[in-house]
Amino acid sequence: GNSIGVFTSGGDSQGMNAAVRAVVRMGFYLGCKVFFIREGYQGMVDGGENIVEATWSSVSGILQMGGTVIGSARCKEFRERNGRLIAAANLIERGIANLVVIGGDGSLTGANCFRQEWPGMLDELLQTGKITSQQREDHKHLNVVGLVGSIDNDFCGTDMTIGTDTALHRIIEAVDAIATTALRQVRAFVLEVMGRHCGYLALVGALATEADWVFIPEWPPEGDWRATLCNKLAAERGQGQRLNIILVAEGAIDENGKPITAEEVKQLLCDKMKIDTRVTVLGHVQRGGSPSAFDRILGSRMGAEAVLALMDAKPGTPACVISIEGNSTVRVPLMECVERTKEVQASMDKRNFDEAVRLRGKSFQN
Ligand code: F6P
Repeated sequence: GNSIGVFTSGGDSQGMNAAVRAVVRMGFYLGCKVFFIREGYQGMVDGGENIVEATWSSVSGILQMGGTVIGSARCKEFRERNGRLIAAANLIERGIANLVVIGGDGSLTGANCFRQEWPGMLDELLQTGKITSQQREDHKHLNVVGLVGSIDNDFCGTDMTIGTDTALHRIIEAVDAIATTALRQVRAFVLEVMGRHCGYLALVGALATEADWVFIPEWPPEGDWRATLCNKLAAERGQGQRLNIILVAEGAIDENGKPITAEEVKQLLCDKMKIDTRVTVLGHVQRGGSPSAFDRILGSRMGAEAVLALMDAKPGTPACVISIEGNSTVRVPLMECVERTKEVQASMDKRNFDEAVRLRGKSFQN
């Protein structure tokens, strides 16, 4: 029962490879077999060459790489029970009773449902002759541990998700580069940054680049924000400032819930202030390139802790997420994190932004 399957699922992020590597190396250290499940849930359903045993050297030289070397995919079959039954049989065939899932909340929720269904699926596989009663006995429990890989830092229960720090580095490098091109002119730059419904990247990016203004989903500008913005920029220009930087989170909205776009902000500055303004949509540059030192270490710490958590799991131990609280690696209940992440979105939808921010930052310790 000491075989571990590791897979990445959903959107990739920098530092996922560090996590995969740590799972393999810590697994070996503790005497486990470790299997790569390539292409996420799709590989689990397809089986065959998609589920291969890792070797020590198979994870050499991947720590430095962005993306995920074991692939990631969206999978329709896994959403159906029949697909999950096939996936379960594939795992049992290889003796895998432990899973490390590296992904966002959707991928983690999927793994938890799979774990809850596991005993029932075993009965069904036995009845249909897909597994033997010995295999059923040996695989009674499926242990699941989740790691959150996402540049958005939008998951409840952890202070940082794997990839966020690197995405921030991309953002500040881009803003710094843009700023140097503008030194000779009087210009404004509006940059759209990623983050889905979360303003973390935009907010922290703005603080780190001395931006003049930032639009985030959690704080829609009130009243006549157009006038307030123009007045602020005019005051700065009056003091001799030649360059303006404005960051717009891709999920930014106004008081009425209407999206605020980089293009709209540009038009405002062109029309009302006659400032020569350019828009840059940073896009997937933010998710690309090699991981920062922080993300390499974060992925490594989380991967190693995931294996320790799997080995500590007793029958009935609920699935957990490895998270960072302060500077410590802690295990927090997966389902509660997922539930709270949903509550955050519900609060955002109800325009209760203070509650959303409070819930996102609330500790699972104590
Ligand atoms: O969740 C990560 C993220 O990069 C978001 O910031 C962004 O909204 C989304 O994924 C983009 O998705 P895709 O890679 O499918 O275009």
